[in-house]
Amino acid sequence: MGSSCQEFQVAVRTSPGPASGTYGHLRLNLIGSQGETPPITVNEADRHLLPGSVCVVRVRAAAPLGRLLLVRLRLQARPGFPDLDWHCGGVEVRGPAEGRAEGAEPEVFLCDRWLRSADGEVELRSAKMSLLSGEPEQQLRQQRLRELQLRQKHIRWRCFVDGAPHCVDVSGVKELGPNLSYTRKSPGGELRYLRGFTGRDEAWSGFTELQTLFTLNGNHNSTARFVQAHWADDWFFGYQTLNGSNPLLLRRTRLLPAHLSVTSDMLRPFLPDRSSLEEELEKGSVYLLDYEVLDGVPANRINGKPTYLCAPLCLLHLTQQGQLKPIAIQLQQTPGPQNPIFLPSDAACDWLLAKMWVHNADFQCHQLVSHYLKTHMLGELCCAATLRQLPELHPLHQLLMPHVRTSLQINVQARASLLAPNGVFDKAVGCGLEALPVLLSRAAARLQYRSLCVPDDLADRGVDELPQSYYAQDALRVWGALHRFVVRWVDLFYTGDDDVQQDSELQLWIREIHTHGFTQSSGFPQSFQTKAEVCQFVTAVVFCSSALHAAVNFSQLDFALWMPNCPASMLRPPPRAKGTVTEADILSFLPDVSSTCGVLSALTLLSQPAADYVPLCHYREAVFRDGAPRRLVEEVQAELKAISDDITERNRTLELPYPYLCPALIENSVAI
Ligand code: FE2
Repeated sequence: MGSSCQEFQVAVRTSPGPASGTYGHLRLNLIGSQGETPPITVNEADRHLLPGSVCVVRVRAAAPLGRLLLVRLRLQARPGFPDLDWHCGGVEVRGPAEGRAEGAEPEVFLCDRWLRSADGEVELRSAKMSLLSGEPEQQLRQQRLRELQLRQKHIRWRCFVDGAPHCVDVSGVKELGPNLSYTRKSPGGELRYLRGFTGRDEAWSGFTELQTLFTLNGNHNSTARFVQAHWADDWFFGYQTLNGSNPLLLRRTRLLPAHLSVTSDMLRPFLPDRSSLEEELEKGSVYLLDYEVLDGVPANRINGKPTYLCAPLCLLHLTQQGQLKPIAIQLQQTPGPQNPIFLPSDAACDWLLAKMWVHNADFQCHQLVSHYLKTHMLGELCCAATLRQLPELHPLHQLLMPHVRTSLQINVQARASLLAPNGVFDKAVGCGLEALPVLLSRAAARLQYRSLCVPDDLADRGVDELPQSYYAQDALRVWGALHRFVVRWVDLFYTGDDDVQQDSELQLWIREIHTHGFTQSSGFPQSFQTKAEVCQFVTAVVFCSSALHAAVNFSQLDFALWMPNCPASMLRPPPRAKGTVTEADILSFLPDVSSTCGVLSALTLLSQPAADYVPLCHYREAVFRDGAPRRLVEEVQAELKAISDDITERNRTLELPYPYLCPALIENSVAI
């Protein structure tokens, strides 16, 4: 051995877990600042890449490598054997001996992911996280760039709906590869009592039939039972605008929309004695639901029959007792003689039907705007941008990926099933496949950044101080905890605003999100000037992918099981006059038997957290395991635990608990 020859001892770890091993040959070489070793095969002779094992090999360099920078791996199929993916824990390198104390710690190159033969060369780094400006060597800066170029080839943008945030261009889950796909332990949603109705394309014969369906499907669900008992009560209509499955639309109004043709006289009976509409508006006790986004959206045909949509305006009043009650409903945007204002003093059927129309409009906006656009699409947008613009070593790549990774797979699956021909929207929802792009692109054009930032959103809508606004109260607390966590995380890596302005990777990332996601007028950042702006944006992404999704997704079935509370489609046109319906008519407006059961089946599957879900701010990734990141995770987990305890305690005192934002029940990412 010549004097310039160096020898390294290299330990290659295969992750534990029965499926981690592979037959494939692993080629490895070391790259230093002054040269690299020739590749060797790690698993030759009696060395195998077995689950949980460590393969130790000696690697020789003919000339000094200089500072050790990278470990390069390449998995190759072994001739005659299946080409299995391999889950690599990482590589540890010891030596060469000179300049190092005996028994010195090895240098650790973390991997913690799947490698495939199709990946080609993969380079591991010994640093865990750093900004580009913290990279001492030119070669390491180049490695970051190579990683992104490779990722940009694999993850490409596609337009799913014109005008809405872009999605990834993959046709199936398989294409995502093992690192971007996941399995979910099914909680075992019970569909037994919803199957077998296909083909019964007729209206429910009476409320007794609906009651029977409800009893078998919803009797064990105390929230659904509460909904069923109170669905027709005005106070519960108001309650649902704050704490139902779509708590994002209600807003305080101090000025009536010009096209809402109510008069002060008309509403006087529903306001406190000696008060007036003007006074109540000024006091801030008038609220509005406006479904303008649905105006003119083409309604679906279901089971060969036309359905109908409307775009209602609904005024609500906050009573002195702290209850929100609807006081006027106009079903269409354009006022006129055939577009009456329905009032609580109307015949009971007229008023009930008007409220049902509002709930039908709300179902469309809830599913496609609050749920799909604001959580699923936003998560995918940020996931794709993170993969394409932030290298793995970037601290925000590490922080964000656990919250957005799963959104790719679930959205690919949703586009191939739920939102595809013969999916539930096509077959059973008022907004079918023709309406979907119209509504999504309109809603995206109206989407404001402030509406995704909880403190701004709640203050803008005037719901932050309402006594019974449990969504708002809980969302504020969860947002606060997440924001403090993100601020501490950002503080670890960015000293001042200068660091933010000079982080070219971060700037390209937010630019990409803006380009592929939002309109100019949306208020979404296109660049970052300050740490505070970064923290606000990152918190919004984490919140929408976890807490907001929990609030709008896992509440769905509870409020929809009693179908009249949440009709997905309407089979007769909205009434153009009062006094035209009787109690017996009401069911003829509502979804037929087969589409009712189709929607409830889908909601049953979507409404239950996985048996093995990862709760909010629990991380399986290696970078969170020690040092400062671990301390930060422990702090946020402790804070979330305290919030969970408070919410559990509060819920004990409520007739109808609000559990959806209890942090212990919030999934860490959009996975269903
Ligand atoms: Fe979802």
